[in-house]
Amino acid sequence: MTLIDGKQTAEKIRDELKLRSVEFEKKYGKKVGLAVVLIGNDPASQVYVRNKIKACEEAGIRSFAHYLPETVSTEEAVSLVRSLAEDDNVHGILVQLPLPKHLNTELILNTIPAKKDVDGFLAENIGKLALSEEGTVACTPLGVMELFKRYGISIQGKRAVVLGRSNIVGRPMALLLLNADATVTVCHSKTQNLKEECLRADILVAAIGKAKFVTADMIKPGAVVIDVGINRTEDGKLCGDVDFDSVKEQASYLTPVPGGVGPMTIAMLLKNVVDAAERAQ
Ligand code: GUN
Repeated sequence: MTLIDGKQTAEKIRDELKLRSVEFEKKYGKKVGLAVVLIGNDPASQVYVRNKIKACEEAGIRSFAHYLPETVSTEEAVSLVRSLAEDDNVHGILVQLPLPKHLNTELILNTIPAKKDVDGFLAENIGKLALSEEGTVACTPLGVMELFKRYGISIQGKRAVVLGRSNIVGRPMALLLLNADATVTVCHSKTQNLKEECLRADILVAAIGKAKFVTADMIKPGAVVIDVGINRTEDGKLCGDVDFDSVKEQASYLTPVPGGVGPMTIAMLLKNVVDAAERAQ
């Protein structure tokens, strides 16, 4: 089994992006810029946002952090995003999700112009992906595709099974695999005979958020197994959706958690920001 090292791959990509952001600054006399909006006090979101801002700094990208209190109204949030949309120093806008329950997430996100939607969450970008047109793709599934590319894993004609149909991971993942000529099956909570579906997969991507859900008896020998899950075990340890210790005996390639897909998500966010900046000029 080959362990897919997302941490090392992401570091390499971030070095490459730094060269591009330095070049951008030399050419246009300003930095690539990302605005990050965090509303409320969700501890996990605070950690994610801190990591994203730090990654920006290291890649030579200017970050504009906006922290709004839990009590902010939808109108106030929309007004902030609107001002960022008009700011030429801001090439990408990221509104950290989930938002507090009283806010209208759809309305706030739809204030982001598609060209600054570096998360690839907007209908316009998801529609482009569905039509196999050029657009911005959500960072996590894009990171998985980058791992396939950099590890020389071919997709064309392969049977790919995606576990999970979320707007952020499962759906765009399935579309990317389809666009790369895989035969794609999407499984979800209502899927019958899930084990049989998984056993047919040459490529299995697990994104369901259930600790160690995928076990060796669900894996075809030699399959490529990608674990997008970030869960905690009962004793508080980080683990994925895949039972690593058993699946590693069956898989040809496997991503660990942590150190697999996670670091690639941030690297792809930076890539989407640099791409957006270059396109804006
Ligand atoms: N919350 C969890 N993951 C993400 C992400 O990739 N982007 C944003 N904006 N919010 C998130």
